[in-house]
Amino acid sequence: MRFFIVPGHRVVTGGDFTLNDLSGSTGRLDILLRCVNSAFFLSNSIRQDVELYLVLLGQPEPPKTVKFVGSELRYLNPDERSTAALVRSALMKRCEGEWARSTPGIYVARKGFDEILAECAGRAGEIFHLREGGQDMRDAEFAAADNAFVLGDQYDLTAGEEEAVARFKNRALSLGQKSMHTDHCITIVNNALDRACR
Ligand SMILES: C[S@@+](CC[C@H](N)C(=O)[O-])C[C@H]1O[C@@H](n2cnc3c(N)ncnc32)[C@H](O)[C@@H]1O
Repeated sequence: MRFFIVPGHRVVTGGDFTLNDLSGSTGRLDILLRCVNSAFFLSNSIRQDVELYLVLLGQPEPPKTVKFVGSELRYLNPDERSTAALVRSALMKRCEGEWARSTPGIYVARKGFDEILAECAGRAGEIFHLREGGQDMRDAEFAAADNAFVLGDQYDLTAGEEEAVARFKNRALSLGQKSMHTDHCITIVNNALDRACR
């Protein structure tokens, strides 16, 4: 299993947003929607062995996490607008500290970054922090079959988030010197793991 965790540092936590302004008033939800595409879409199918955690930290009810489970997903299409509608439905759902199912394969809970890390760390061999200065992923050995990958959104992880990652077995991994978009990094990680049969 591959777990991807992406904080949306400014992304709204309420469902009261318009689908016509996804890169503006949502606090850059569009960036996270592209991560959904990169995490799950193959040419003619959806990756079954991926879970994606979007940790939303904007107003009005931070934190909230929307979880996508590849093996259960239905109604997911490659366009950002329809995925935004699924996220909006999840954010409109009443939820507390436990996962509440919104639509098939999409869950929401009032969980923050630390809780999601702990949850994934309990299921993954290691947590990998994707960042430009880490060990080159091409040289990295993956001891376990299940791994978690943490990436920033338009901002890198905060100092507090880095401290949270450091509480678990972790490694910093680089995909090269150039700073890329988060969704592109997810595509590269998926491809690298595919090629390594992980
Ligand atoms: C748009 S970048 C964040 C800001 C970027 N670090 C900058 O200075 O402009 C989004 C995230 O993608 C990941 N990332 C981008 N380029 C990377 C690279 N070359 N290697 C590993 N991770 C990378 C990191 O997790 C980063 O926080």
